[in-house]
Amino acid sequence: MTDAADSPAWAAYRRLLRYAHRYRSLLWIAVLGMIIDAACGTAFINLMEPLVDEAFVEQNRQAGWQLPLVIVGLFLLRGVATFATDYGMARAGRSVVRDLRQSLLEKYLRLPTAYFDREPVPAMVSRLNFDTEQVAHASSDALKVIVTDSLYIVFLLGTMFWHSPKVTLTMLVLGPVIGAIVSVVGKRYRRLNHEIQDAVGAMAHRAEQTLGAQQEVKVYAAQASEAGRYAGMADRLLRLYTKVETTRASSSSIVQVLAALALAVIVYVASAEASHGALSAGQFVALMMAMMALLPSLKRITTVQSQVSRGIAAAQRIFAVLDEVEEADAGPVPMQRAEGLIEFRAVSATYPESERPALHEVSFTARPGTVTAIVGRSGSGKTTLMRLLPRFYEPSSGSILLDGVPIADVRLADLRRQMALVSQQVVLFDDAVVSNVALGQSSPDRQAVQQALEHAQAADFVAELSGGLDAPIGDKGGKLSGGQRQRLAIARAMLKDAPILLLDEATAALDPQSERLVQQALDRATSERTTLVIAHRLSTIEHADQVLVLDQGRLVEQGTHAELLARDGLYASLHRMQFREHGDGGAE
Ligand SMILES: Nc1ncnc2c1ncn2[C@@H]1O[C@H](COP(=O)(O)OP(=O)(O)O)[C@@H](O)[C@H]1O
Ligand SMILES: [Mg+2]
Repeated sequence: MTDAADSPAWAAYRRLLRYAHRYRSLLWIAVLGMIIDAACGTAFINLMEPLVDEAFVEQNRQAGWQLPLVIVGLFLLRGVATFATDYGMARAGRSVVRDLRQSLLEKYLRLPTAYFDREPVPAMVSRLNFDTEQVAHASSDALKVIVTDSLYIVFLLGTMFWHSPKVTLTMLVLGPVIGAIVSVVGKRYRRLNHEIQDAVGAMAHRAEQTLGAQQEVKVYAAQASEAGRYAGMADRLLRLYTKVETTRASSSSIVQVLAALALAVIVYVASAEASHGALSAGQFVALMMAMMALLPSLKRITTVQSQVSRGIAAAQRIFAVLDEVEEADAGPVPMQRAEGLIEFRAVSATYPESERPALHEVSFTARPGTVTAIVGRSGSGKTTLMRLLPRFYEPSSGSILLDGVPIADVRLADLRRQMALVSQQVVLFDDAVVSNVALGQSSPDRQAVQQALEHAQAADFVAELSGGLDAPIGDKGGKLSGGQRQRLAIARAMLKDAPILLLDEATAALDPQSERLVQQALDRATSERTTLVIAHRLSTIEHADQVLVLDQGRLVEQGTHAELLARDGLYASLHRMQFREHGDGGAE
């Protein structure tokens, strides 16, 4: 385009071309079609010279029936050519979009959890849907206009030059002026479009949050403030779109006026030429038609700029994601099934953009076949500790070992294969029960799923759903109660049969009755595993082999339930508090 060859826009464009390279045979067919298309259009205009001079001025009968046949032939050829162009470009453009979407989603899934704290999921979805779509338009529709119309312009100018160099030279003087305007406009476009994309993303994010929290919004009477905030964002978007449209409209008007000026000058020079016999009537008609044909092509070329800029801006955003640093996975050590010996050695962890460490020099050992309970007030670092094991976040200092190997040295996929996880917020897919429990398996063993459901005390309610194992559970499991969702998540962890079991308040949403049953199943499941369990209710961890008590990221107490009670420290006071509240050891 008009930018310098080393600008980011140009780099993105070249990178996009590399994606298109795979489909170059389709593109060549399309380009061939474009060349034929432009050539046929030019040939048709050049037919005007013999048509006027032979058929009308000379009244030649032969030319009178030959020329119409040539016209039909030309348009047949042109029809085939434009079909080839449309097919080739659409196929290639769509293929590029498919490739971009695939690599983008795969990339997102390789990015560290910290990235997900930075970029909201709706913005990611907008990259996948919207930005790739913009690239499609730029890479097929716009490219088609650019190639066909610039060829057409070149051919037409060539024809005009051949008919009358004087006239054409006059026209060429105006070219650079138009070019300069197009360049300025293009820069403004790209900036505005960046802003629009961000504004749209922010708006979608806001709307999703507001609508998702509609009950809270209603109860806390936040409708007016939420609506006001949304309206502010919508207003800003309106202003941005207006700016974009003003830029586009004014630039295309200016270009048209310039072209009309050129036309006037050309008509003047042409009539002077004709007056001393340098231009025949047929040549004059051909020249006029060529100039008329030039205008829409010029107009399309200037307006296509916005489409290309949008596409390039979208491509830049996509490539920015594709260039993000992935989760560190340099560890060379493969690992089959681990024994499950976990050691934390003076592990500290600080979240990005946070000053205070969430974990401070925590050391402990969890042996295979034992249960380690982690307790502490909310915000004390329990979830953070657990997130370090599958390396969702990296410790800022200290080391974590699995079977004596630092986990940073273990291949990431192998490390994560050792763990089953029930996280604090249960995550379910809008899919059938069986696909949710057998997450990641393409052909699940239904009997094993059934058994896992039974262990998780979920078999009964699943049997009551219409469709049983195949019953859809709604978006985020919305058709189930909190306790039911949690039991599905537990069944999922049981099905995985991994040597390490991570339970982050996994039974917090269960009633005491089902919690007791799930607890029994978990106890059975934990016998041959290393289990880390974050417990909300202290009564559920009385039989843990060791209890770690965290406070403000520090490990302040460690021992068995009985030892810690005897010690009469933080654990004992937490325990007393729950006991006093509920009178039954904490079960709510
Ligand atoms: N993704 C995150 N980004 C930044 N800070 C976080 C993040 N998650 C948790 N924190 C902070 O880290 C501290 C420990 O949180 P967490 O481990 O979730 O506590 P717990 O599970 O014990 O309630 C808290 O101060 C919390 O605000
Ligand atoms: Mg937590």
